[in-house]
Amino acid sequence: MNVDGVACRSIWVNADGCSIDIIDQTRLPHAFVVRNLCTLQQACNAIRDMQVRGAPLIGATAAYGFYLAMRDDPSGAGMEQAYQLLFDTRPTAVNLRWALDRLKAALLPLKTTARAARAFEEANRIAAFDIDINHAIGCHGLDLIRQLAATKTPGESVNILTHCNAGWLATVDWGTATAPIYMAHDAGIAVHVWVDETRPRNQGASLTAWELGQHGVPHSLIVDNLGGHLMQHGMVDLCLVGSDRTTRSGDVCNKVGTYLKALAARDNNVPFYVCLPSTTIDWNIDDGIEEIPIEQRDGEEVSRISGKTADGKVVDVQISPDGTAVANYAFDVTPAQLVSGLITEAAVIDASSEAIAAAFPERQRQ
Ligand code: MRU
Repeated sequence: MNVDGVACRSIWVNADGCSIDIIDQTRLPHAFVVRNLCTLQQACNAIRDMQVRGAPLIGATAAYGFYLAMRDDPSGAGMEQAYQLLFDTRPTAVNLRWALDRLKAALLPLKTTARAARAFEEANRIAAFDIDINHAIGCHGLDLIRQLAATKTPGESVNILTHCNAGWLATVDWGTATAPIYMAHDAGIAVHVWVDETRPRNQGASLTAWELGQHGVPHSLIVDNLGGHLMQHGMVDLCLVGSDRTTRSGDVCNKVGTYLKALAARDNNVPFYVCLPSTTIDWNIDDGIEEIPIEQRDGEEVSRISGKTADGKVVDVQISPDGTAVANYAFDVTPAQLVSGLITEAAVIDASSEAIAAAFPERQRQ
């Protein structure tokens, strides 16, 4: 999508043709900084430190990280080490494992001398595939927004609430939850987005608000706790969120706080849709609450906050008493029964085992 009017992706091959560039998302929205990744370790650090984040982008970065590793050590041991180091960076988003498994399967049968070139090809395919499937999600979601727009009086917007950043910054391009929004906006449909700030890391405030603003989509930043009130007052027509891991029965794990939005949506008859590429489905598990590993991150993400001062400096401050104990679970699980539907690249489907299996018949238990 656009940055300063110019089309931009979240990850790309550097002009040197062999290293990888990313946007350092820890610096947004106050600085647009591009970082160059040349080694496996740099790719691992970029994922772990959340310079790149969002399930699909984590997968794409891991694929490029694997390629960078193959340039240095394409042996069997090198492959194992690259797989493990990348796999250990973040535990919840399943696209990471999907991408690594795909790389490993493609490279194992090859001679070591052929592995780096093949890994580069495969990582590029994964990135291109992500763009295509998010585009397809956008087209399916656009139909839903069109239907809602048809119920509005002229000049009235469709109000969409989103949580965290499931935008183009979380993918290679388009985003998942934002793809239908960008398409609706570009098609001239009046949309307005309620952007949850998404504590503790504020991906809504710093990333979603930034990217919607860059593309000219009307939006309002809200505190995480406002959604219920807005829904009670008929101010939300649709919730669109992303997913880090979806069970084959339709439970959805996404950024912490998503579940509470789903509860409020159900209580107020607001449609609650999850936009996800099939790469986010974990075909091995049924019970999201019991089986999905929930990442626990550094307590300082909760006890501290960063922002720009009036004189333009970006500073980090502590907001709780010295020594306060902190729990920082980064994700939660929304059970399938609270989900109105899944917007996938194949179609808009029910959040159920039957519908998921029918939409992706080629994918089976792995
Ligand atoms: O911790 P993050 O920023 O990686 O979490 C991101 C999310 O929870 C997104 O909603 C999810 O990855 C879907 S991305 C299209």
